[in-house]
Amino acid sequence: MKICVLPGDGIGPEITAEAVRVLQALDLKFEMEEALLGGCAVDATGNPYPEATQKLARVADAVLLGAVGGPQYDTLPREQRPERGLLGIRKDLGLFANLRPAILYAELANASTLKPEVVSGLDILIIRELTGDIYFGQPRGIETREGERVGFNTMIYSESEIRRIGRVAFESARKRSKKVCSVDKMNVLECTQLWRDVIIEVAKDYPDVELSHMLVDNAAMQLVRNPKQFDVMVTGNMFGDILSDEASMLTGSIGMLPSASLDEKNKGLYEPCHGSAPDIAGKGVANPLATILSAAMMLRYTFANEAAATRIENAVKKVLAQGFRTGDIYEAGTKKVGTKEMGDAVLAAL
Ligand code: IPM
Ligand code: MG
Repeated sequence: MKICVLPGDGIGPEITAEAVRVLQALDLKFEMEEALLGGCAVDATGNPYPEATQKLARVADAVLLGAVGGPQYDTLPREQRPERGLLGIRKDLGLFANLRPAILYAELANASTLKPEVVSGLDILIIRELTGDIYFGQPRGIETREGERVGFNTMIYSESEIRRIGRVAFESARKRSKKVCSVDKMNVLECTQLWRDVIIEVAKDYPDVELSHMLVDNAAMQLVRNPKQFDVMVTGNMFGDILSDEASMLTGSIGMLPSASLDEKNKGLYEPCHGSAPDIAGKGVANPLATILSAAMMLRYTFANEAAATRIENAVKKVLAQGFRTGDIYEAGTKKVGTKEMGDAVLAAL
């Protein structure tokens, strides 16, 4: 079981270190090797997804990623930006299915900005297509036309791309409460009209799963109005990016949201949904739980070790019940801890 570890930038190294300690504590004989991705890779090699990292990531069974990016890289040419490294590895490894579960832990009901009764018991799975859409569509660019600059991107999906992410959604729903809500903008965008048509075709193979459709603007509103109406939500790359950040706040903090990005054979890249948080980098205060929970997803999806995955998730529940909180989820009456102490607490709970 080979794991490629990519700590990345900002708080990435701090949170990844805690997830690595948790994986090591399981005594499952992982082989772990570190490499560079993102800004740190640009600094060292000029390339945000260097060849050495590509090699390692391609042979590994799974990749554990911290986060990439930082303000010092925002003015670099686009192909040298850390985000390009992240998109590059997703595309290179064919990780088209991004699973982002938003689960509210009972202890954190007050950490959400929404009323506890709106979010208590929340358990949503957002399935975001990750290697297509406007993120990768050609043509794209900024150029001068008729004396002024224009910026343009292409929103594009092929039916095979829609079909395979649709199948992931229906298969996932079968293991849950058998409801899929597909999110599009078919009232305006042809690309997502095709999305809706193909999802309806895929649904015919899953008569036991209830399919509904929602326009993305309404979905954004419904997520804060009545999020518990959703179970599995499936959508394209850009809408999924936005809706998953929104869903994260239902759970109290984006610091709690793990993710899995899978190829057709369950090789996966596992990363927290949050970014590199440059403002708190190096201070030892970041919440490592999203990364630790991403490691649990790795055990579940790539290594098919449900028992070990549940063990980590239960340990996280236990530390929350014990009152340990990093700054992002802190409230009066709980114990404020740093990144490493949170990792220690999870290890003790394991
Ligand atoms: C995410 C992030 C990335 C994305 C950025 C960092 C490129 O926001 O994983 O959601 O947009 O996919
Ligand atoms: Mg995002």
